[in-house]
Amino acid sequence: MKILALVTGASRGFGYSIVDQLIKETTNRLPNDDDDGASSDQNSIVIDLYLYARSLGNLESTEKMVREQFNNKSINVLVNKFAIDFCDIQDTEIAFRNSLINIEFKDYQKVIFFNNHGALSILKRVDSLSNFKQISNDIHSNLTSFVVTNSIFMEKIKEQNNPILPNTSFFLINVSSLAAIKAYDAWSIYCSAKAGYALNYAPGPMDTDMQAEIRANTVDQESKRHWVDMKDSGKLVCPFDSASKLVRLIFDNNFESAAHIDYYDQEW
Ligand SMILES: NC(=O)c1ccc[n+]([C@@H]2O[C@H](COP(=O)([O-])OP(=O)(O)OC[C@H]3O[C@@H](n4cnc5c(N)ncnc54)[C@H](OP(=O)(O)O)[C@@H]3O)[C@@H](O)[C@H]2O)c1
Repeated sequence: MKILALVTGASRGFGYSIVDQLIKETTNRLPNDDDDGASSDQNSIVIDLYLYARSLGNLESTEKMVREQFNNKSINVLVNKFAIDFCDIQDTEIAFRNSLINIEFKDYQKVIFFNNHGALSILKRVDSLSNFKQISNDIHSNLTSFVVTNSIFMEKIKEQNNPILPNTSFFLINVSSLAAIKAYDAWSIYCSAKAGYALNYAPGPMDTDMQAEIRANTVDQESKRHWVDMKDSGKLVCPFDSASKLVRLIFDNNFESAAHIDYYDQEW
């Protein structure tokens, strides 16, 4: 079994948790050597990870986690790191396209793209905004770059999936993005025809750097108190729990294509 997983925003927070849970869930689903007399060779799993963040250095902790935790398992995890600043759309187009250049989808049984990166942007009231360059960058990072990367990914699938690759399943997961909702609608037709599955996943209020930024930078005092209370009362979602739910949804293939699923939607 060979899996290709692309994860943007993989350096920390939810992206880091997705990588961790993806490997754990795959390992958990490995059949035992004794089951059906299968040999460990037949059960061998390769996960090819394509990890993205603003710098290669930022991705080192994720790579280290993969090497330290999963070194001795009957699973071979290969880490490929890419530095892309998703605020820079021209650079994103070139660098993301280049990152896919050597991929042959026919080599994989599952291809999963977790489009997960995100930035908070400026937490000020509209009447006190001034750094418009920063706002434009944040819109590119949170919105335009999702459209660009989704389009390039789908273009690559179309190139290689014609005639259809019967042994490869494609999953496109967009983590809480307006762009994602639009892209799903467009992709749902493609998905139903081409063995592809799209999901818009809202991961819940997670205890990551993003929440720390919200607590530090929210101007409105009532909202700020709300977020501080959430943290102090232990109500923030653990990113590993949310990632575990997402990865299990994908492996169970337990959702309608183009669905929008929230962490709180179902118990498990
Ligand atoms: N945390 C929450 O409460 C919450 C709630 C709902 C939805 N979400 C969504 O969940 C996703 C992950 O959030 P998180 O909580 O894990 O956030 P986080 O801890 O702040 O991590 C953000 C990730 O995105 C990457 N990133 C940010 N700006 C980038 C850029 N311009 N170019 C390339 N990479 C960039 C960061 O990489 P660097 O190492 O380069 O900084 C980092 O890996 C986001 O889409 C967010 O909107 C989060």
